[in-house]
Amino acid sequence: MKSTWSGHLEFDKVSFSWPYGVNVIDQLSFSIVKPGLWMIVGENGSGKSTLFRLISGVIRPKSGKIYCSLRPSMVYQNPDHQLLMPTCKSELMLSVPKTIPHSKLFDLVQSALEKVDLGEMLDRPIHTLSGGQKQRLALASAIVSNSNLLLLDEPTALLDPQSQNSVLKVVQSLTSSSTEPIAAIWVTHRLEELFFCDGAAIVKNGCISKWDSGSKVFQELKSLAVR
Ligand SMILES: Nc1ncnc2c1ncn2[C@@H]1O[C@H](COP(=O)(O)OP(=O)(O)OP(=O)(O)O)[C@@H](O)[C@H]1O
Ligand SMILES: [Mg+2]
Repeated sequence: MKSTWSGHLEFDKVSFSWPYGVNVIDQLSFSIVKPGLWMIVGENGSGKSTLFRLISGVIRPKSGKIYCSLRPSMVYQNPDHQLLMPTCKSELMLSVPKTIPHSKLFDLVQSALEKVDLGEMLDRPIHTLSGGQKQRLALASAIVSNSNLLLLDEPTALLDPQSQNSVLKVVQSLTSSSTEPIAAIWVTHRLEELFFCDGAAIVKNGCISKWDSGSKVFQELKSLAVR
């Protein structure tokens, strides 16, 4: 079946500084022109979360241009900070676009839960979910909102290896779907995750490197660490 992907994200020499600070983002250029799992690494304070805020439009560049025809959605480190409702169903209902007819609501919510391996959890109280299940529910919430650009800010930092793997697998399946692939930008300090991505880049000194394979970026960071 034909893929429904269209759109792109482009930063053209974007700079940004928080009040009274130096440029956290300095003439930064990069683009995402196809679906996939794109990972970003960089030291604490290097500007990765600031970059996400620029992509989502919460803050605006001091100079340069951002072109974004995608629909971004943030997923944070701690799902408890973004899940608001008592059950999976009510949480997802909150994110469904208002234009969706009532008759289609249930199918949309159920299909989003199935995409994140929570198909049986429609009426499950959120407080009974594990950390990994909560994080996958946050992903389902982005999916029902019709987002096609997930901004994942250290989504596995609070998870054990098994839940970390379950979130990685779900994001991989969303970004490599043969019918409706989406793009995901994944910020991580867990370097072993780089082996699962379609491309990786390093944020440093306000700039971003070119996209490279996850394994190359892993090797580069490891060799810097032993110098
Ligand atoms: N709301 C804010 N007001 C002022 N300065 C901020 C704000 N948010 C971030 N900064 C500063 O911008 C710089 C980059 O922060 P940012 O959170 O983007 O880094 P990061 O790469 O996401 O770091 P980490 O890996 O620790 O999450 C830091 O010096 C930080 O103190
Ligand atoms: Mg951050």
